[in-house]
Amino acid sequence: MNFQLTEEHLAVQEAAREFAQTELLPGVIERDEHQKFPAEQIKKMGELGFLGMMVDPKYGGGGMDTVSYVLAMEEISKVDASASVVMSVNNSLVCWGLEKYGSEEQKQKYLTRLATGEIIGAFCLSEPEAGSDATSQRTTAIDMGDHYLLNGTKNWITNGSTASVYLVIAQTDVAKGHRGINALIVERGMEGFEIGPKENKLGIRGSDTHSLMFTDVKVPKENRIGEDGFGFKFAMSTLAGGRIGIASQALGIASGAYELAVKYAKERKAFGVEIAKHQAIQFKLADMATNIEAARLLCLQAAYDKDSHADYGKSGAMAKLFASKVAMETTVEAVQVHGGYGFVKEYHVERLMRDAKITQIYEGTSEIQKIVISRELLK
Ligand code: CAA
Ligand code: FAD
Repeated sequence: MNFQLTEEHLAVQEAAREFAQTELLPGVIERDEHQKFPAEQIKKMGELGFLGMMVDPKYGGGGMDTVSYVLAMEEISKVDASASVVMSVNNSLVCWGLEKYGSEEQKQKYLTRLATGEIIGAFCLSEPEAGSDATSQRTTAIDMGDHYLLNGTKNWITNGSTASVYLVIAQTDVAKGHRGINALIVERGMEGFEIGPKENKLGIRGSDTHSLMFTDVKVPKENRIGEDGFGFKFAMSTLAGGRIGIASQALGIASGAYELAVKYAKERKAFGVEIAKHQAIQFKLADMATNIEAARLLCLQAAYDKDSHADYGKSGAMAKLFASKVAMETTVEAVQVHGGYGFVKEYHVERLMRDAKITQIYEGTSEIQKIVISRELLK
């Protein structure tokens, strides 16, 4: 067994670290406070190839493996989880879904621009009454022959007002249950498509979360992804990989908080010595580092499974379940190490603590990850 990263992996990691420190760190506190979408930074991430990392170069992507993606996600998330959720949705939900299941025409028309970051995408499954219970879709896509008539509301959509392309899951045939669901490519600006107000959130405040309303939106038949009735499997299959992205985001939030805690513990003095000399602080750092290492190994295992075409549903869910717990615990402890300074914005750890929470909720809550894992264990 070889745990060594290749030269290419190390180069991607270094490029992402450099980008995060020079381009994302300045202004991250203000963007969080004012809920400002990191538009310029996302544009640069596209130019550097971070928005379509795993897409085949013939469609404008970087042709990289999932391990590289995990490494880049960790570095970006250490600094700005609002930027990394844009990266995760675009890479592992939108680009991957289109590349794996889209038609050649759909790839030429949409994927090529999504992979370069010229435009960004959104993935629209959740609804006001269908979150964890994702088969209970109320949004309808009625088959009208040459097009679908789309009606309904999607909730909590990341990149809601900044995306140009939306992959929308909707029910065509209620009698068929989840086998009557379709995935449609909806373009921003289609008649009857409205974007609701931006959500005012606890964390990842720079990211752009909206509800979307569809009223008699005509979506051409050629915009359906896959066969009729494939929409729910499309969503589940795409989310299996998406969860590796969010696991890596959680890992990055945890390791970012840990690095800040180590730095602060060596600087801050109490009772005549650096607080890092107190065993209580040392033990906190030891626990953090051990948990982060375990989370990183789970993320890399899931990425390796995906790259080697093994089943990654369980390993991705385990990585997300564990890394998001570690993100929450580590950020709380990092605030503790900082004492009162941890409670104010300048020291970054309070933001990381707020950002950590969402990793236990989106792309399947921790309870849903346990359902996915236990079903795999028991089947
Ligand atoms: N790949 C392909 N097909 C899959 C699959 C997978 N990984 N997992 C399940 N399916 C298929 C099943 O085989 C089944 O099809 P058949 O009946 O034909 O065999 C079908 O999907 C339904 O599966 P279940 O019976 O398991 O469905 P369920 O109602 O019990 O729900 C669930 C399963 C795991 C709880 C699912 O509803 C789920 O994942 N819920 C969470 C939703 C979620 O993660 N939302 C995230 C939204 S996106 C987001 O959040 C983005 C962001 O924040 C940035
Ligand atoms: P519910 O499903 O109502 O769950 C409430 C609680 O009940 C949770 O603790 C849950 O774990 C628990 N629960 C539910 N069912 C069970 C069960 N069977 N067993 C045990 N416990 C259960 N969705 C998208 O489609 N696209 C996006 O881009 C997107 N981005 C998001 C961004 C943000 C900031 C947020 C907050 C959400 C986003 N979501 C997105 C939605 C997200 O995926 C859902 O919020 C999530 O799946 C949970 O659904 P819910 O909020 O309806 O909670």
